[in-house]
Amino acid sequence: MTSFDCKNKFKPLTEGTYLKNAEEYKRLYKQSIEDPNAFWYEKAQEFLTWDKSFTTISSGTLKQGNVKYFEDGYLNVYQNCVLRHKEKKPNDVALIYEADDPEDARTITWLELSEQVQLYARVLKHLGVKKGDVVTIYMSTSPEAVYAMLACSYVGAIHSVIFGGFSSEAIKARVLDSKSRFIVTQNLARRRGKLVPMKATVDRAIGGLDFIRSVLVDERVSNMKDQFEMKSNRDIDLKPFVSEFQKGGKYENENADLQAMSMNAEDPLFLLYTSGSTGKPKALIHTTGGYLLNAALTHKTVFDIREGDRYGCMADLGWITGHTYIVYAPLVNGTTTLLFESTPDYPRITRYWEVIDKWGLTQFYTSPTAVRFVMTYGTEPLKDFSLKSLRVIGSVGEPIGVEAWNWYFKNVGKSKCYLVDTYWMTESGAIMISAIPGVTTLKRGSATLPLFGINPQLLLNGDNPQNQELNLEKKSKKQFLEIAENSQSGILTIKGHWPSITRTILGNHKRYLDTYLNPYPGYFLTGDSAYRDMDGLYFIKGRIDDVLNVSAHRFGTSELESAITLHPNTVEVAVVGMPHKIKGEAIFVFCVLKDKRVDEKKTKNELKVLLQKTISKVATPEHIVLVDSLPKTRSGKIMRRILKKIVTKNYEISTYGDLSTLLNPDSVKQIVQNVKKLF
Ligand code: PRX
Repeated sequence: MTSFDCKNKFKPLTEGTYLKNAEEYKRLYKQSIEDPNAFWYEKAQEFLTWDKSFTTISSGTLKQGNVKYFEDGYLNVYQNCVLRHKEKKPNDVALIYEADDPEDARTITWLELSEQVQLYARVLKHLGVKKGDVVTIYMSTSPEAVYAMLACSYVGAIHSVIFGGFSSEAIKARVLDSKSRFIVTQNLARRRGKLVPMKATVDRAIGGLDFIRSVLVDERVSNMKDQFEMKSNRDIDLKPFVSEFQKGGKYENENADLQAMSMNAEDPLFLLYTSGSTGKPKALIHTTGGYLLNAALTHKTVFDIREGDRYGCMADLGWITGHTYIVYAPLVNGTTTLLFESTPDYPRITRYWEVIDKWGLTQFYTSPTAVRFVMTYGTEPLKDFSLKSLRVIGSVGEPIGVEAWNWYFKNVGKSKCYLVDTYWMTESGAIMISAIPGVTTLKRGSATLPLFGINPQLLLNGDNPQNQELNLEKKSKKQFLEIAENSQSGILTIKGHWPSITRTILGNHKRYLDTYLNPYPGYFLTGDSAYRDMDGLYFIKGRIDDVLNVSAHRFGTSELESAITLHPNTVEVAVVGMPHKIKGEAIFVFCVLKDKRVDEKKTKNELKVLLQKTISKVATPEHIVLVDSLPKTRSGKIMRRILKKIVTKNYEISTYGDLSTLLNPDSVKQIVQNVKKLF
């Protein structure tokens, strides 16, 4: 692997970056690990405006699972994300809305953003939203979704944004789990030019849930009243309602001088559902002070953010990338941030490149799956675009791999931009490992070095020194060792805590402890394995648990399996991930039917639709194979490692290890034969 010496290759960036050089990174990084309180004290002053300063910087331990940052400090999110920038530069652009239809694009200034957030906040207040209430937001990536998010913290509420592609069943599960009484949605959304029935989907989700107080419906698409129903005493047409709070409206004077709530640093800012290897999706909680601070610091460092930049992250607001790097980090830093509502190939395959040139984006942040997708069209679509405004291009969500890295670097970054491969997760709140433009080394396919406060440790599991197939449920994993040497792989953990670490799982602190903190006391278990090369740079290898990463969307295999078993004719199901050229990983379903005398094609289609309906279209399986039985241990546990080998087209049964402990060794032969037929 070649690494790039930043000083020689990328001279223009070495002037004026947030950190001066690699020496400064090393010095500050060392301080952040050895004297974290001194480090975070300084950064908290530099990045955030506090209503009441804190006296304690951090407390608690990972072992006890009670970490806190700035616990007696108070700050208000509106002031940090909007007000202070509005006061300085009211007419500068805060948000660029690149709507699904490029013709609908528009910009929102800091002044407009502040007005809208205040109006939305007054609406929430009027409806009785109180501190600590959970407000569900089910919307496309649009300015109104951002207003709703920021309005929540304005009144002290906690938002729960649900990805706009999720089904009514998925919404229902989340609304029930979070006991959310307020929902903000759209009448319809537009996706690739097609109408998406947002309100109707919400209606199906909450039918029968009598605790729902209000559903606010933004008219994203005009004149569509016949497409959905409005329930009186519950549903509110948001746009005219907001107008009633403006000058001359019915509620003109109601809460006209409503002040943004001062939040304790440890108050929850939002919850966000994500998938784990077991059980239902879990709501991770992020707090106000520590989260905002690390979001802003990592954004500034990793994207080389400067005044006047136009920064574009292509993610959906419904994921952590959208929360941290479309909304909170850029807004705290006063950076113009782009909301991309569409897809890279709508209305044309040149959409990304059009967006970069049209707005003069200085940073462009997307996922490897999107890069691999646009790569399949070659470089022809790029030929009319200069992309010369770009300084930094970023990748997130899954390992980028050398081929996609090279293509992205050469054709989008024109071999001049820094390509930052940013490794992190919903739980970390902010990037953990990434190159820093102009400061640290780039290496193809590597996320490179840890950011401040992140102390990555590769662990060698006592059970299995070869570290090949880690069984996270085994008790003896308590015996572990930190791998001190380089050129080694291991389980990737983070030693100690950092300000934006998720504090708990809503309603289930035990699950939080058991999943992340108890497996290796004192360490946070990421769920990934990694390789540290001879230069000490990190290469993320992928998940070591039963979590799949499909087009950078995270699904637990058990979540997918439970959805499939809702089909009345299924007895048993196993889902594994298979490598996929564009999606990174694709869903491969093995299924045993009760009654096998059915039309196989029809049944497979029913299973496919069931997954789409219960979870989302992203959960569409690549292959479904019907088998007579699944390979199981005598204790009844499905041997996924065998299935994983088969889906990688390794059909050599002799390489599967000892099958003598299987309850039904013959099942393997049949599965191999059925899978072979597919390819
Ligand atoms: O496996 C890692 C992968 O995505 C997982 C986290 O998924 P999620 O919580 O949905 O957050 C995605 C966006 C932050 C991780 O456990 N992952 C994320 N970024 C990278 C990555 N794998 C390799 N390289 C990355 N840069």
